[in-house]
Formats: sequence, structure tokens, C-alpha cells
Amino acid sequence: MVFFSPSERVSKLPVNFFKGLDQKLAASAQTGQPFLDLSKGNPDLPTPRHIVDAMKEAIEKSENQAYPPFLGKENVRQAIADFYKREYGVVLDPTKEIAIFHGAHIGITGIPQALLNPGDYMLITDPCYPIYYSAAVLAQANTYAMPLEESTHFLPDYRCIPDHVLAKVRLLLLNYPNNPTGALATEAFYQSTIDLAKSRQLPVVNDFAYASLGFDGRKPLSILQTDQAKSVAVEVYTMSKTYDMAGWRFGFAVGNASIIQALNHFQTHAYSTVFGAVQDAAACALQSSQQCAAEIAHTYERRRDVLIHGLRKIGWEVTAPPAGTFFAWLKVPKGYTSETFANLLFDEAHIVVAPGIGFGKRGDSFIRISLVNAEERLTEAVSRIKALHVFE
Ligand SMILES: Cc1ncc(COP(=O)(O)O)c(C=O)c1O
Repeated sequence: MVFFSPSERVSKLPVNFFKGLDQKLAASAQTGQPFLDLSKGNPDLPTPRHIVDAMKEAIEKSENQAYPPFLGKENVRQAIADFYKREYGVVLDPTKEIAIFHGAHIGITGIPQALLNPGDYMLITDPCYPIYYSAAVLAQANTYAMPLEESTHFLPDYRCIPDHVLAKVRLLLLNYPNNPTGALATEAFYQSTIDLAKSRQLPVVNDFAYASLGFDGRKPLSILQTDQAKSVAVEVYTMSKTYDMAGWRFGFAVGNASIIQALNHFQTHAYSTVFGAVQDAAACALQSSQQCAAEIAHTYERRRDVLIHGLRKIGWEVTAPPAGTFFAWLKVPKGYTSETFANLLFDEAHIVVAPGIGFGKRGDSFIRISLVNAEERLTEAVSRIKALHVFE
């Protein structure tokens, strides 16, 4: 075999952080030890029945066996517009302000490629969803990561950005509800974001992947609810978490028409189209009763309560329980880093968690536990951690 080297761009892409964990887990699983994997965010609940049924019906339609329209079917674009109007009071033009794609991941890696030139800066946060770094590499852009601190509710302070970076920033990428911290954005924060973006003519993207997962009666805000947001911002939405449709690969971006146009232009070359039947099923999910989405969110909230209550009971001081998403971002005990503590849990309790360092330098005193696990598994994890006696 001739070995062909990858392109410079591909060589610069970081190795998927979770790959190492998976390898370690696979090696240990062979020993027959029962491991609890609480590291991932793959929804464990089934897609609601009416959406599956809509898909079955849609597959039979001959129109879905041919190429779908480049910019998406009219029915799904209209369903997205209706959904945003109903859920957030945001009015969208289905022809100019909506782009569809195969899941949020594609939109998030696509937008920087559609907007940035080599050497431009993209503002992200530390910690953040690691794919944002990959998105910057693919766009040949630089990143500046604004720290997220518990003391400021894991919202960035734009005053931290040095002037020389600010001068070269061409994109601001946010993610609320936030993975990994579980924090929600506030109206005031979004207003300051839009004010900054307008004053500097800066495009803003909010990755709204956990849109439906707000706890304690708090409905996560859309950034587009902010006054004049559409003049600078788009929001990326996915069916993966709201409707447990992670395997179906459907997401969309809504908002500023020029960003949508650039993204659509990029996408028609890079990815072509989304299966028409998936678009029909997505339209069904968005147009039907949202009771299923509320039930999914309640399930995660109950799991959050079981986990946090259990951890507090064994002496783990949880100062910032998640207000949304399906992750708990937990400070490790004194004397540990995120990796040494994750290793302790792995070796002694046979629990796999995501070390915070995988989400950025500021994550190194945290681990992330995922709530895509049944209450019994979370309870079992708490009792295994208790047996380590680290919090006594
Ligand atoms: C913050 C965030 N954005 C985007 C995604 C990807 O979503 P999708 O399944 O739509 O590609 C994830 C998945 O875990 C995520 O955590």
C-alpha cells in the first residue's frame, strides 16, 4: 500500500478527544469488568412514535426517492418558521432566513467556512464543545477562547478580549444552553452580545443544540428573541436532543439572511441535500404537539436531581448544578486534575466520565457527567463514588 499523507488542513485537526477514552474502555471491557460509561452525550431515549410513523409514511412517497430541492423542501422550511414563531415569537422568512443540513455539527463547521478567511479570528469560549476548534481549523481561522467562570455563571465577559484580537475577530460562536457547563444565557447577556456585534459588524452564531433542555421551569432563550438580533445573528438548532433524533441527522440555521445565504451557497457545493423523508419527519416533529419534547426534558431534569442529590449526600459540594442540557459539570476534589480524578473513577470505580480538560484549559478542575443514563445507573455511580471515600 502506498501511504498518502493527509492535507495540511486535515493534519491540523485535533484527534477526537473521546477516542482515547473509548480505546481505554474497550480494553477494560475485555476484562469483563462492568463499566458505567457516563462520558458521552448520545441520547438514550427512543424517538417519539409519531415522528417514526411520519418517516415510514414519507419513505413511501415517490417525491422523496428523487433528489430533494437544494435549499430544502418548502414544508420543512415553513414548519421551522412556524416553530420559531410559536416557541419564541421570532418571525422568519422561510425562503431567505432558514438553511437546513445534516445535524448541527454540519452547520457549525459550515458557517465558519462560509464566512471566514484564513487568519481571521473566531471567538469561542473555554470550556467549549471541542468541535468548535475543528471548525476553526477547517476554515483556516484562529480561535480566541474567552474564559467561562462559575463566578459569572459561565457567561463570557467580552472585556477580556485583547484589542489586537478584537480587531481581527470575524465571528463569535456561542452555545447556550451550554455544553459542558449546563449554564443558560440571560436576556441581559444576549443584549450585550448583540450590542457588541452590531457595533463591530460581527456575525454571531448561537449553537442552540440544547434548546429544549431548561430545568426548574426555565425555558432557554433564543438569541433571536433579542432586539435586532437578526441584523447580526443566526442560531443553529438540531432535532438530536429536542426529539431524541440524534441518528436522523437533521438540523437548521435561522436568522441573518446574509449568513444563511453564504452557508447555503457553501453547502450546495460541500454537502448537497438532506433525504426528503427525513425533512418530512422533521416537519412533523416541529408541527406536532411539543408534549414529547417536554417529557424528554423532564426525564433529564429528574436524572439531574437524582445525581446532584446523591452526590451532595455523599459530600461532593456541587455549587453549580446544571440549569439545562444533559450534562453535569462537577468540580473535582482538591489535589486532583480533571484527568487524575477521571482516572481514579475509571480505575477504582469503573466509571467513565469526560475529563474537563477535553473542553479547554479552564475545564481542568472539572469533570462532565452525562445524564443520558437511567436513574438507576446514576444512583449506582453515586454509590460507587461513595465507596472511594474521597469526599469524607
Ligand atoms: C453543543 C453541541 N452542538 C452540536 C452538537 C451536535 O449536534 P448534532 O447531532 O445536531 O450534529 C452537539 C452534540 O453533542 C453539542 O453538544
